[in-house]
Amino acid sequence: MALVTFSNPEYKDKTVYAVAGSHTETILKIAKEHKIPVQFDCQDGECGHCLVRVTGIDDKERMGYHLTEKERTVLKDLGKLTQDDIDRLMVEDVPSEWRLACQMIVRDEDILVEY
Ligand code: FES
Repeated sequence: MALVTFSNPEYKDKTVYAVAGSHTETILKIAKEHKIPVQFDCQDGECGHCLVRVTGIDDKERMGYHLTEKERTVLKDLGKLTQDDIDRLMVEDVPSEWRLACQMIVRDEDILVEY
């Protein structure tokens, strides 16, 4: 189980449980299940509307996450990551703070999702 806290200046923070490692539990799916108003459109990693910032909730080291091919393209187009950033993330196996909610699968760690 992972605890996912959704945060937006216009709404109260909401923390929900998520089943980690299911391979289908995206941040967007969890948000929709809990009626958290994360924006979205295509739900397929192409439009960039579901951009979120993801950080650890405590000082624990974050798990490595690989950006999907679609995320790399969209996050570069949005100016959130450069190719150098992406290369560094891959080499160091560290997670990107910028993610697409429809592409990111929850793993077994507690995270803060700003939307
Ligand atoms: S909803 Fe379009 S990229 Fe996620």
